[in-house]
Amino acid sequence: MSTEQRQELRQCLGKFATGVTVVTCDGSDGPCGITANSFSSVSLQPPLVLWNIAKVSNSLQAYLDAEYFAINILSAGQQKLSSHFAQSDHTLWDNVQYDTSADNVPLLRDTVACFECRTHQIHDCGDHFIIVGEIERFRSSNDEPLVFYGGQYAALKPSGE
Ligand SMILES: Cc1cc2nc3c(=O)[nH]c(=O)nc-3n(C[C@H](O)[C@H](O)[C@H](O)COP(=O)(O)O)c2cc1C
Repeated sequence: MSTEQRQELRQCLGKFATGVTVVTCDGSDGPCGITANSFSSVSLQPPLVLWNIAKVSNSLQAYLDAEYFAINILSAGQQKLSSHFAQSDHTLWDNVQYDTSADNVPLLRDTVACFECRTHQIHDCGDHFIIVGEIERFRSSNDEPLVFYGGQYAALKPSGE
């Protein structure tokens, strides 16, 4: 595929509106967090979810090694948090409000939902790894979610039907 075709494909894939998550784990150098919109539910029995991490990510090893991780689904007011965890330095937790789970995983506050997972499977897939987690605990709120569409942040609006 040429560079232009890759760019077109990227734009085309961006037509799929998603929520925004920060995936967190307890790394060997401290807490880790990475913004990810590749989250998807997989199975109810057993309860499985997945997300993808780029092989070039600086925090790849932390997630490959992690026995536990959490998917924090961001609320409409948490765009700054999304941008923060989309930066390369994931060790900047000083100004981030979080609690720590029973498995020592950072859980962000005021999110729409949170899934605490145990790593179930990791699949090597192209330039990413697919990480599948079994949900051990979960919670949600009635807050509005942050939305990502066409490479930009957006908000939900009623469908009008
Ligand atoms: C809305 C949004 C969604 C993203 N989704 C993913 C994703 O699913 N997987 C991934 O590896 N990177 C994703 N990224 C990019 C990472 O957040 C970003 O590349 C990473 O934090 C950069 O630091 P690193 O190279 O140290 O990992 C996303 C970024 C944004 C802004």
